[in-house]
Amino acid sequence: MTEDVSTDRLAEFTKVCSLADLPNVGAVCADFDGRRVAIARDSSGAVHAFDDTCSHAKVSLSEGDVEDDVIECWLHGSGFNMKTGKPTSLPATEPIAVHTVQIEGDDVYVALSDSFKQGEK
Ligand code: FES
Repeated sequence: MTEDVSTDRLAEFTKVCSLADLPNVGAVCADFDGRRVAIARDSSGAVHAFDDTCSHAKVSLSEGDVEDDVIECWLHGSGFNMKTGKPTSLPATEPIAVHTVQIEGDDVYVALSDSFKQGEK
């Protein structure tokens, strides 16, 4: 049996930007219900959404550089895997929240992870 869940799933998503708003490889910061979410395009063209705040010293990750599927914090250089949120290098040791991205045409929609909505790390 085929089930069309797209309508239900989209109800959880909010449009945050257009693909044209994103750099070819890099990140921008979007305000999401008063919280900062980074939206990034990696070198393969995939789009990711994650907590914009570095888990080490609370600076904006979207100001860092993207290489492959890792974003590098500009302040102390920790990398974070944008698919998992896990740090790939020190000094950060705690993960960041990652969120679900849905692309509809030229629009980027994001559904926040449950842990982010509850303010957990
Ligand atoms: S503030 Fe990001 S690694 Fe230190």
